[in-house]
Amino acid sequence: MSLYTQLQQAKSEEDVKDAYIKALGLKAYTKGLIDIQSKEIWFEAKDTGKTSTYAMFTQLLHYVQVALDKGEEIPPFLAVIDTEKAALMKTADVLVFLKKKTIKWGKSASQYTQEALDEVSTHIGTHFVSFRIATHEDEFISTVKAAIKSGDIIRTQITPDNLKQVFDKWVAMVGREINGINEEDYALLFFADIMHDGKVSTHDNLPAELLHKNDAPVFTLGGKVYELGNKEGYRQFWAIYHKPPKAEYRNYLLERRDSLIPLDERSFKGAYYTPLHVVDKAYDKLTETLGKNWQKDYIVWDMCCGVGNLEVKHSNPRNIYMSTLDEADVDVMKATKTCVAATRFQYDYLNDDITDDGKIDYSLTNKVPETLRKAIAEGKKILVLINPPYAEAMNRENTA
Ligand SMILES: C[S@@+](CC[C@H](N)C(=O)[O-])C[C@H]1O[C@@H](n2cnc3c(N)ncnc32)[C@H](O)[C@@H]1O
Repeated sequence: MSLYTQLQQAKSEEDVKDAYIKALGLKAYTKGLIDIQSKEIWFEAKDTGKTSTYAMFTQLLHYVQVALDKGEEIPPFLAVIDTEKAALMKTADVLVFLKKKTIKWGKSASQYTQEALDEVSTHIGTHFVSFRIATHEDEFISTVKAAIKSGDIIRTQITPDNLKQVFDKWVAMVGREINGINEEDYALLFFADIMHDGKVSTHDNLPAELLHKNDAPVFTLGGKVYELGNKEGYRQFWAIYHKPPKAEYRNYLLERRDSLIPLDERSFKGAYYTPLHVVDKAYDKLTETLGKNWQKDYIVWDMCCGVGNLEVKHSNPRNIYMSTLDEADVDVMKATKTCVAATRFQYDYLNDDITDDGKIDYSLTNKVPETLRKAIAEGKKILVLINPPYAEAMNRENTA
């Protein structure tokens, strides 16, 4: 049973503590005045979600202050937990502040004064990482476990395995706060956001860009600037996740934009990337059928190339023309330096350049490069290599 389900069934503070102890796999701990006390972390627990994180930390810091005054050992981390949320911080971030002994605590930890709450809140402001258990249970558990192991609060990495979940959470916490943006553009802003280390972007020429204005993040897309309404979700999101993703994952993540497109739009466009094992098979068949020199002998035109997987294994990219419906896919290929020597362009092969009487006239849009038009006109050997979109496709294996 998940931690969140267990918390929803909790009838007492004891149940809440036990649910967290089990989920975090805590072994050596005691329960007492400090709700859960282990060598690494002290926890303050509540049996509802009504008390604020600040109020819970104020109570916990009272115990830390008492222990400090007595010269007792204190743990490297402090956590507050309840049925809805949890937060973690490093004790080192409050030590200097507590050592000043300026806070007027109440008679007991639970009877804290408004003054103590205000002072603690101001000080701990951005030092803790908070988690909504309903949506970030896994991240909370792995962050606490990693903290115990490493002695540091390590943010969760964005990887191919959690990309979709991270994106959905980004939409809920950040995307919905961006004023005036269309839902179908969330994925582009998401990539601009994650592929940025706070100072510079990891890729040039991404379709959207993250910038900073008056110290706040803003996004640009298609020449327009998009600002965040409430910035708290943004702060909380990036307190949980690490960015940018590891270098080895970056291009792969960008190329998986198809997996983030809303399902109905994706089925409509048949926007499923071609898995590389399918590309291998296709190349084997082509060699079998056209001979081992086909990559040299044929000009290739993939007119629905998406992010270009079908061409990445081609050894002669100068012989390749790649076009596709979404300009953003062309931008992703440019940013990830996919088939740099190939000619890549936006083109709707089912609608562009079709005359009223159903003929093809490349001069209508002038999108098809002159060299390709000439090769077609001269009757050169052209291989149309495509994994076409099928509107009815329900999974990507069907389209391959
Ligand atoms: C099955 S996917 C091919 C994926 C591609 N081989 C890859 O690995 O990314 C089909 C692609 O065709 C594109 N597409 C759909 N309709 C199109 C059209 N009318 N003209 C050009 N491309 C189109 C979709 O956006 C999608 O990227």
